[in-house]
Amino acid sequence: MKYYTRRFIRPNDLNTSNRLFGGQLLSWIDEEAAIYASCQMKHDHVVTKYISEIDFKTSARLGDILEIGLEVVSFGRTSLNMRCEVRQKKSHAAVIIVDRIVFVSIDKRGKPIPHGQITTREEDVPTFTQNEKIVANMAS
Ligand SMILES: CC(C)(COP(=O)(O)OP(=O)(O)OC[C@H]1O[C@@H](n2cnc3c(N)ncnc32)[C@H](O)[C@@H]1OP(=O)(O)O)[C@@H](O)C(=O)NCCC(=O)NCCS
Repeated sequence: MKYYTRRFIRPNDLNTSNRLFGGQLLSWIDEEAAIYASCQMKHDHVVTKYISEIDFKTSARLGDILEIGLEVVSFGRTSLNMRCEVRQKKSHAAVIIVDRIVFVSIDKRGKPIPHGQITTREEDVPTFTQNEKIVANMAS
């Protein structure tokens, strides 16, 4: 599991119980998975096909820094199977685990197209520091 992106939880990310809104976290995961899948499949046009059961392990709060991790489970002909875990940066406590996320590479008509990739490509994904998404100004 590689953790490429960090997120700072800001006031707008909270639900009415002052915890991180689950939908916001899923949006971050979907975006991260799309970038990762595009890099791994070496294809610009990819779509979310399937997201398995989602386990919200612990809640996260204002000011927490989260790390979003992804790993390849398997390559298909047109698809990519991934696993995702989001954890607290400081404690490494799991916040959410998604056992299976499937993205499919598509052509201009939106039809599945073979991506031709069979192995994980670490060189094509950004390093942690290049891809940091920490929003420093919480006051804004
Ligand atoms: C993605 C999409 C093009 C696939 O079309 P499809 O007719 O299901 O295509 P196929 O049956 O040929 O399947 C394509 C691949 O997806 C996989 N797949 C299909 N249904 C799946 C499912 N329920 N779970 C996991 N993988 C699935 C297939 O195994 C296949 O993988 P492979 O080629 O690596 O073996 C089509 O379902 C679609 O456009 N969905 C909407 C995507 C979207 O808009 N996502 C954003 C959601 S807001």
